[in-house]
Amino acid sequence: MLRRWAITLLLISLAVGLHRHAWHTGELAVRADDAPSSRPRDCSPVDVALTPDGRWLLTVNQTSDSVSLVRVDDGAVVAEIACGRHPSAIAIAPDGRRALVSGTHSSEIHLLAIEEGKLRVSGSLKVNGEPRGVAIAPDGRLAYVALTATNEVAVIDLDSLACVARIAVGRWPRYLALTPDGSRLAVGASGDGGVSVVDTVKREKLYDTKFVGLNIGHVQVSADGQYAYFPWMVYADRPITPGNIREGWVMGNRVGRVRLDGPARREAMALDPRGRAVADPHGLALSPDQHTLAMSASGTHELVVFQLDELPLRTDGPGDHLKPEIARDSDRFFRVALGGRPMGICFDRSGQHVYVANYLNNSIQVVNLADRTVERTIDLGGAAEPSLARRGETIFYDAKRSTDGWYSCHSCHYEGGTNAVTMDTKNDGSNGTYKMVLSLHNVRQTGPWFWHGWQKDLDAALRKSLAETMQGPAPTDDDVRAMAAFLDTLPTAPNSFRNPDGTLTEQAQRGQAVFTSAAAGCANCHRGNYFTDGQIHDVGLASEYDVYDGYNTPSLVGIANRARYLHHGRADTLDELLTDLHSPEKVSGTRPLTDAERADLIEYLKSL
Ligand code: HEC
Ligand code: HEC
Repeated sequence: MLRRWAITLLLISLAVGLHRHAWHTGELAVRADDAPSSRPRDCSPVDVALTPDGRWLLTVNQTSDSVSLVRVDDGAVVAEIACGRHPSAIAIAPDGRRALVSGTHSSEIHLLAIEEGKLRVSGSLKVNGEPRGVAIAPDGRLAYVALTATNEVAVIDLDSLACVARIAVGRWPRYLALTPDGSRLAVGASGDGGVSVVDTVKREKLYDTKFVGLNIGHVQVSADGQYAYFPWMVYADRPITPGNIREGWVMGNRVGRVRLDGPARREAMALDPRGRAVADPHGLALSPDQHTLAMSASGTHELVVFQLDELPLRTDGPGDHLKPEIARDSDRFFRVALGGRPMGICFDRSGQHVYVANYLNNSIQVVNLADRTVERTIDLGGAAEPSLARRGETIFYDAKRSTDGWYSCHSCHYEGGTNAVTMDTKNDGSNGTYKMVLSLHNVRQTGPWFWHGWQKDLDAALRKSLAETMQGPAPTDDDVRAMAAFLDTLPTAPNSFRNPDGTLTEQAQRGQAVFTSAAAGCANCHRGNYFTDGQIHDVGLASEYDVYDGYNTPSLVGIANRARYLHHGRADTLDELLTDLHSPEKVSGTRPLTDAERADLIEYLKSL
């Protein structure tokens, strides 16, 4: 261990030295490029798409903020271009000459021109609201972009590259898919646990099909336009114990579909074979002949493949485990180990291969479905040795750290945030006190930890989460250090409720005055950079089963990105929070806010 540190330090100082030299003389610039510090950054592909002629693959690389163009024939990476910040998804137009990429953290979408072996950004458009999933209409003229932060779908005219409409959908829209005729759009809305179905002609939401749907992954519509398929996770409400985990009574993994021709109950199937679960299903694709359904399970690092015909997709409870008769039947179901963190996937034109964007492996893997192996790995570029933070990231997304591989940290702390459900992790020694999954953004700066604030040591909090929430193997000291390093570098999306230049809107400025006023008293407790005084207060929400008194003032940074509020999640909206459970009368003993004051205050809270 010490030796590795010594070597790392030596290499860093060498690299810094070389860079200094290069700065002063200019001569050593080339040698500096060879130095370890300037090895390629991790690419971390999250999505992959194939041109209609089957000859080119495009990947979206989340940590190198780029898009790569790969020739299918020989696997050569022929181009890599910069593309926004933290890009999330890509769609290729039916003519194969244009593609659209969402830059989630730069609040932009980018139109790419694809020509024989060349790639360039032909235009960019600011679209506020954390753009994520993208889909292009069959005529290639319009595109749809899910805006996760503002709960909308943006309609983009690709010729003028302008946003022509915004359609309100369920909360936390992430990924979406169009029917083949472009008339309907299915949008996974994880904040509301459901799928919103949109009429693209009227440009309005038709209905929501709701179910207990967390972390809804990629969506694909069947070739007949009848169903939208997608994977997701359920939370089954029981306290975390090894027995409950094994029974699928804590978290479970599902695939299902909703009808697009009118409201109907969702049809679902449990994915987890007893004893060896399939965690964090994310990418999904149907084969061109519609007989095969493939999904990436990013938590258990594999491709899971089903024969779609006669899958028992049910409108009632799908059970807690994959049906044993399917689990045992290798003609109907198999799993291909991939390692890393498999994310977006797509079929080749023959339906014989699946291309997998593997985030942690920095590669595209080509899976041969006939012999069920990884036939080829196309390296997109990454660091030769993972950094400490990258090792922590690997643990964060690893469901093998939990009993039988049912879930990872990410299953609850989605991409470091929250999946907005209340859990009984039993971490404070109480029983039956369900608490909201906390966001881990700025976690080091917002101690003490856990809702009651009883934990004063972040490393100990991480160790407890690894050992007890996951009920997995005991973490090493290095695991804990790596996890802390990852959380220290967790990327955050910019706030979507401010002016484009980052300043507060006029309404938010008025709200700020309310927030700091004596009439509301918010800043007495929510103060400092993260809007917490780090103190424990009794604000009237204690439960008789609590082991600790009072609650630690929670940070309000990113509060707009929650779907439920307070430790027990009983306030659905900020309006409800401020008129009832956490009103100024209750927390500060002052007068109720006027409607105008409350509206302004909410606008301010959303801007934090
Ligand atoms: C099954 C859901 C679940 C999983 C999986 C999970 N957590 Fe949590 N986590 C929670 C809940 C619920 C809380 C709040 C519990 C409380 O306050 O009593 C929490 C709180 C935390 C906190 C305290 C945050 C703060 O601001 O005080 C940390 C740190 C944390 N989790 C880290 C992790 C790590 C690291 C992993 C993976 C090893 C993980 N958690 C896995 C549900 C989960
Ligand atoms: C006496 C200290 C105190 C005051 C004053 C106070 N808060 Fe809080 N706030 C807390 C505590 C403690 C919690 C956590 C309570 C719980 O969940 O049980 C909390 C929770 C919240 C939450 C929910 C956070 C989440 O992650 O779910 C919001 C939003 C919030 N406060 C905003 C406000 C606003 C706006 C005001 C002014 C009207 C205010 N608070 C006044 C201490 C305070």
